[in-house]
Amino acid sequence: MRLKDKIALMTAAAGAGIGQATARTMAREGASVVVTDMHEERAKTVAGEISREYSVRTLGLKCDVTDRADVDRAVEATLGAFGRIDILFNNAGTNRPERVVDITDEVWDLVLATTLTGTFYCCRAVIPAMVRQNFGRIISVTSVAGFRGLAGGHAHYAAAKAGVMAFTRCLAMEVAPHRITANTIAPSFIFNEFIPHIYPEDEIERMFEEIPYPRKGTPEDIANAALFLASDEGEYMTGQTLCVTGGSWMR
Ligand SMILES: NC(=O)c1ccc[n+]([C@@H]2O[C@H](COP(=O)([O-])OP(=O)(O)OC[C@H]3O[C@@H](n4cnc5c(N)ncnc54)[C@H](O)[C@@H]3O)[C@@H](O)[C@H]2O)c1
Repeated sequence: MRLKDKIALMTAAAGAGIGQATARTMAREGASVVVTDMHEERAKTVAGEISREYSVRTLGLKCDVTDRADVDRAVEATLGAFGRIDILFNNAGTNRPERVVDITDEVWDLVLATTLTGTFYCCRAVIPAMVRQNFGRIISVTSVAGFRGLAGGHAHYAAAKAGVMAFTRCLAMEVAPHRITANTIAPSFIFNEFIPHIYPEDEIERMFEEIPYPRKGTPEDIANAALFLASDEGEYMTGQTLCVTGGSWMR
């Protein structure tokens, strides 16, 4: 019960990957979780399942992180229901692999809005409550794409993820006096059933082949890193990026 009595607001937490796995891990450790996602019905369903499975209070809400009003509503609803927000887990991010010459303005804007601007909206919205509490843990999911050159059409996504890491370092400096930490987790390839809808098969093969550790990374591997950052044990770590990559990226 490492997160007993904590309130965790999670974005993009109703899918098949890291977001839902982290919501479940935090609930298992005693946190009340607010499951938000751009898909309202799925958010409500997942929130209900988590509540029944782990006997914690949950809330399921629509929140498209590209929509400032949605973000503000989700934060208000969380404060209305629970009175505080201890943990913000910024999971929302999207990729539409395209070579630079083929990226349309719309695709560029979508990737940046979801991955970078959405993270900013969520951080900005929760900080006043965290300052009042004199406590907060902000954890954002980035990617090793934000560090390295990659073929395969990741330039917009990589730029957005690098932006989240840079943003987080400055944010961490600003909020540290209020005992708020801000960190990022950079996974390499983490498979889930939806991945084949995003990446072609040869790109999936290539991403697997880069991993020296002899098993595939799972959403739970990222959830465990998030649990550390959210728990008491993670208190003195801020402005950092935890790379969870099975050794495919080392720095
Ligand atoms: N899967 C990987 O290999 C991998 C690797 C590195 C980084 N990441 C990052 O991890 C995060 C989670 O990815 P995942 O693949 O584990 O999937 P996930 O299941 O955790 O997230 C998918 C969910 O995101 C939601 N979503 C998409 N756009 C949204 C928006 N604008 N507002 C709110 N919700 C939105 C979808 O509805 C879906 O339910 C993303 O930020 C991704 O970029 C993933």
